[in-house]
Amino acid sequence: ENSATDSKNLKVKLVLLGDSGVGKSCIVLRFVRGQFDPTSKVTVGASFLSQTLALEDSTTVKFEIWDTAGQERYAALAPLYYRGAGAAVVVYDITSAESFSKAQYWVKELQKHGSQDMVMALVGNKADLHEKRTVSSQDAQEYAERNSMFFVETSAKTADNINQLFEEIAKRLP
Ligand code: GTP
Ligand code: MG
Repeated sequence: ENSATDSKNLKVKLVLLGDSGVGKSCIVLRFVRGQFDPTSKVTVGASFLSQTLALEDSTTVKFEIWDTAGQERYAALAPLYYRGAGAAVVVYDITSAESFSKAQYWVKELQKHGSQDMVMALVGNKADLHEKRTVSSQDAQEYAERNSMFFVETSAKTADNINQLFEEIAKRLP
């Protein structure tokens, strides 16, 4: 749950979910350290990082980020990380239709078992690989709207829309 430490300083538990290899860890690394690692290793279990974002109105939001492992063998651990989360980022790779199907699985899972007031984002990552795109922006946008999520395409490689993703989440927190 989101808890206000005072009126201007919020804290939120955020979970990233999605298929292995879609770029969850790279999104977090880009947001927290401003870096990109082309040799990023698969995540084992989950990893935790935190980052504080200052908004224009001088509110600060501390994100406590759980970056989950996308490999199938870790799927049963996911509830440990999304339980009590105030925000969820469901990631797919715009060059992989299979990863978009997997994202829809995670959205259903969150709708069934997540908190009612969870802020949910659908993220199409690897937008820099547009020449290999197999998931259309319009299909993803429509899916997101039907499921009361906001949608953005990002690139952890070029940093495109990474800060905007977290800013949009911050603005939507209850
Ligand atoms: P798991 O930990 O197994 O769940 O995977 P993950 O979703 O954390 O993937 P990770 O962030 O480790 O990235 C997987 C691969 O995709 C790495 O080789 C990255 O360098 C690459 N990658 C991640 N984001 C991008 C991106 O925006 N563009 C491109 N071109 N490659 C990316
Ligand atoms: Mg990872």
